[in-house]
Formats: sequence, C-alpha cells, structure tokens
Amino acid sequence: MKKISLTGDRPTGPLHIGHYFGSLVSRKELEDEYESFVMIADVQALTDHFKEPEKVKANVLEVALDYLASGLNPEKTTFFIQSQIPQIAELTIFFSNLVTINTLKRNPTVKSEVAEKKGLFGTKGEKLTYGFLGYPVSQAADITIVRADVVPVGEEQLPMIELTREIIERFHRTYKTEVFALPQAKLSKAPRILGTDGSAKMSKTLNNAIFLKDEPEEIKEKIKTAKTDSELKVTYDPKNRPEISNLVLVYGLIHSITPQEAVKEIGNMNYSAFKNKLADDLIKFLEPIREKRNELEKSPEKIMNILATGTQKTLTRAEETINLVKRAMKINY
Ligand code: TRP
Repeated sequence: MKKISLTGDRPTGPLHIGHYFGSLVSRKELEDEYESFVMIADVQALTDHFKEPEKVKANVLEVALDYLASGLNPEKTTFFIQSQIPQIAELTIFFSNLVTINTLKRNPTVKSEVAEKKGLFGTKGEKLTYGFLGYPVSQAADITIVRADVVPVGEEQLPMIELTREIIERFHRTYKTEVFALPQAKLSKAPRILGTDGSAKMSKTLNNAIFLKDEPEEIKEKIKTAKTDSELKVTYDPKNRPEISNLVLVYGLIHSITPQEAVKEIGNMNYSAFKNKLADDLIKFLEPIREKRNELEKSPEKIMNILATGTQKTLTRAEETINLVKRAMKINY
C-alpha cells in the first residue's frame, strides 16, 4: 500500500510564489510515490475570517484553480474541501482533551499571527477566540483523518506538525490503540520566501505577494518596487541582506540553480538590471501557469466536480478513521 500525504491551504486569497516554491513543487514530486490528499481549509480560513464568509467561499475556487494550473494532477491527487468532511470536526473535539491551553498559547505560529491581527484579536490578544487559539488542534485532525504519513509544508507549519505528533502519541498512550501513523513534515528547497517588502512572510494580507495569476505588468511593478538595501552589488547573504538575497533565491528557484550559482550568473549586473531580468524571467516562468489558469477559469463547474469527487473519496477514508477512533475511545455504541 502506498503511504499517504496530506496538506492544505487556507482559501483567503489566490496562491503566490511562496506557496508554489514552498509547497506546491514538493506536492507534485510526491504525487506518484504517495497517495496524495490536498485540502482547501475553509473552516480554518474562517477562524480569522469568520466575518467574511463570502470571501472564503470565493477563494475556494481560486485556490483550486491555482492547484490545477500549477500542474497538480486530479487523477493522482485527491482534492477536497475541509468543511465537507464532518469527521474532521468530530476528531477535533476528541483531540481537544489531549492538548493543554498552555501548549496552544506557546505555539510560535499562532502567536505571531495573533500579533499581526490586532484589529481582530485586540492589541494584546485580549479578544483572541477559542477557535483561533485552537486551530492547530483542528489541523492535527486534518492530518490524522486520512492517517497521513507525510505533510509537505513551509517552515512556519512545523509547530503544527510537531503538535500533531504529540497529540497522536498521547492518543495512543491514553486509549491503548494504535490508530494513526506518526506524520513527518516535508520541507521544500525554499521553505520560506520573504515578502517583496522584505518582511518575514509573503502574504496577501501584508500586500507583499506575487501571485501565480498576476499579469506581466503587475509582476514587473512588484519586482521593480521590491525592497532592497542601498548597496549596489548583488550578493547572497540572507542574514545581513535579506531583501536582495530573497530576490536571488527566487531567481535561483525559477532557473533550478542554487542561490550561489545565481549570484555567479547575475555577475556584475546592478540592481535595476538584475530586477529587470528577474521580472522578465519570472513572467516567462509563470506564463504557462497563467495560461492554463485562464483556460480552467472558463469551466468552474469542472473544477467543482473535481472537488466533489475528491470529497467523496476522502469521506470514505474519514469514516474509516472515525470508526477506529470511536472504538478506541469506547464511544462506539
Ligand atoms: N495552516 C496551513 C496554512 O496556513 C493550512 C492547513 C490547514 C494545513 N490544514 C492543514 C497544512 C493540514 C498542512 C496540513 O497554510
């Protein structure tokens, strides 16, 4: 039997090049070797967008389009929508007994997100909801509902995988039944791409992202105005020169070379010449994705069908898992 891979994204906007190099590429690599599940995490998206359900709904299709345009193959990968698998919500409740509030409060990813979302959760996090604090538990349920062995993700998701492993170990010890595999994170070669403003994360909310669906003009503008330091020579030194190094990293990724090789190739180009070349090359690199996306966009019903088929398949496996869980927890009447 093939091992299982599961990962997902929150549908809060279209996917960007950070998603692409951080995770989509490794998902594609896993498609043959693993039975692959990719989830559109609408329930998780609602934990910080609960006031904007229309936005989440609209982005389910956007994200699905990005998956397929990036070359993930629906014959090989099972795509599904989180909210359509009620067993995930059930499992979340069962897992909530196995996690302390203190563990959740210490989660570095949750902490930095709460600090970013002052409007929603208060300047000191005084309005933090139970749902947002607890989303890592629900993410553990996402992973375990298909009994995943591997989770291809970016670096900022590592605390979630660690928590998932802790919950599984506690579950097995507490209920004396081995139900789950212990999942491993799989990082790509570019587990973190900075925003074009140099901030630690590329994200739609921070308005510093280059989207897979961006038009050539938008890409040009974004690269042109990307933050750099005031030196002139292009080098790769992510510690001391994060902004320019990030652009070098992207250049390397689109040419399948290391950042060090990229620096050699860039040679003595000044910043503006380098940025021009990077923008042109990135536009070329993204062109087939954009074209395929434009094509797919014409038949949204086809996309929704792919999601429905994937959801059915996932339901079968989720049902199996929840039965094992209920038996272990002695709630199988
Ligand atoms: N938290 C992930 C993100 O923000 C999305 C996600 C939800 C996920 N459930 C998951 C990722 C399960 C991997 C596995 O991008």
